[in-house]
Amino acid sequence: MASQREQFGSRIGFILATAGSAVGIGNLVGFPVNATKNGGGAFLLLYAVFVLFICLPVMMAELAAGRHTQKNPLTTYDVISSNSKRWHIAGWLSVITPFMIAVFYSVITLWILGYLSAIVTGNLNLLGSPEYFSTFINSKSVFSYLIGVSLFVGGVLFFGVKDGIERGAKIMMPMLFIMLIGLVIFVLTRENAMAGVKYFLIPDLSKIDAKVINSAMAQAFFSLSLGMGILITYGSYMKRTTSIAYSAKMVALADTGIAFTAGLLVLPAIFSFNPDTNPAELSDSSIALIFTFLPKIFIAMQASIGYFGASAIAAVFFLLVLVAALTSLISIIEVPVCAVIDNKNVSRPKALICVGMAIILVAIFCTISFGMSEFFTNLLSYGGADKSFFDLVIDIFYDTILPLNGLAICALVIFRWKKSGLNTELECGDDNFKGSLTERYLNFSLTTFIPLILLFVFINTALNKFWGISLI
Ligand code: PHE
Repeated sequence: MASQREQFGSRIGFILATAGSAVGIGNLVGFPVNATKNGGGAFLLLYAVFVLFICLPVMMAELAAGRHTQKNPLTTYDVISSNSKRWHIAGWLSVITPFMIAVFYSVITLWILGYLSAIVTGNLNLLGSPEYFSTFINSKSVFSYLIGVSLFVGGVLFFGVKDGIERGAKIMMPMLFIMLIGLVIFVLTRENAMAGVKYFLIPDLSKIDAKVINSAMAQAFFSLSLGMGILITYGSYMKRTTSIAYSAKMVALADTGIAFTAGLLVLPAIFSFNPDTNPAELSDSSIALIFTFLPKIFIAMQASIGYFGASAIAAVFFLLVLVAALTSLISIIEVPVCAVIDNKNVSRPKALICVGMAIILVAIFCTISFGMSEFFTNLLSYGGADKSFFDLVIDIFYDTILPLNGLAICALVIFRWKKSGLNTELECGDDNFKGSLTERYLNFSLTTFIPLILLFVFINTALNKFWGISLI
């Protein structure tokens, strides 16, 4: 007899683990700066609309599909499509995508760990020099941080869904929340902090154009961990007595709430400690912001709170980002691990070792693509720029494939599972779902405009990234 599938122990455990997946580097730095540069409150509103009307339905569809099949994303596509070859490709994409995102995300996570250890060993002042980042990422020490991150994530996943992922989230998510609130209180009580709050919140409608709309949509989609197979996998660990609609709404609320709160931390910190900042000149890249811009802000804090105080604040901030990155990494590595356990009938530790080794190997290729290896550094040239292996992975899997995977899940619902299959699953554990506004909205949106929007975002991004053509 097949052994019983692992399950989350409680609804709150599921919500915390899924929120842990959703809250990541994107929420803490990317979102606040993106919002500030692109219309402040107007961007926030746009983002909230996308979360509510486009991302939530896709989220519920992914969770329902996983819970229906009780399997990983690859098998989920097979089961719902009755083993169609074409759908099998979509299934593969939703396992390869998380694998490759795990690769580049581990690289960023190990850098965060490296910065955190530099700060706690008293070297905050070094982080401000312009060459520090490139010297650090090309130093041999990155490999030891890679081992550190791998051992931690592997250690949590080893204990499985309830005793590993869920227990980890129950400890790390409250920690994250407390650190975030503590930092917000510290920053908001500084001089000039309100200038940052104003930039973040005051709406500027003139900034909203087609590009900003596209980027708000992409940010919301990524932030909720959609199209990565994570929600299908976590859905397969959900009890049939838990309401999917309620849980999904709570996860979206937590994710958006934390992104919003991070804005009350990052922007006021920038304007309080570097009042001459021109928001338009802030970088679009979360990587540049975390590793080259924000260290300067922490160093500037010395003048008012001393070197030790500034180091303590910087350490808490990097620990906050590290915790957020680790909980996301745990969720994304679980996807291929779960696929191997289901399909190869092996134990969790064996699957973990196979998947872990493969991710570490490809992550090493990424790690050495910043100069250590000429081959991986100057791998290709497209879209008018030279690209490293790291750039290639981000362009393909983070930027381009996610909306395609979202489109695939909508298409699966429309053509194979049908609305009735989706509704039946969503009604399980939710007495109020049948006939509700949420049900009617989901049925309408998932079969009409959501797939069209995702198709457009996919085509536009692919043309833009690889051929330098922009439709909007
Ligand atoms: N929501 C995450 C973030 O904002 C996205 C993510 C999830 C990335 C899982 C990697 C793994 O960073």
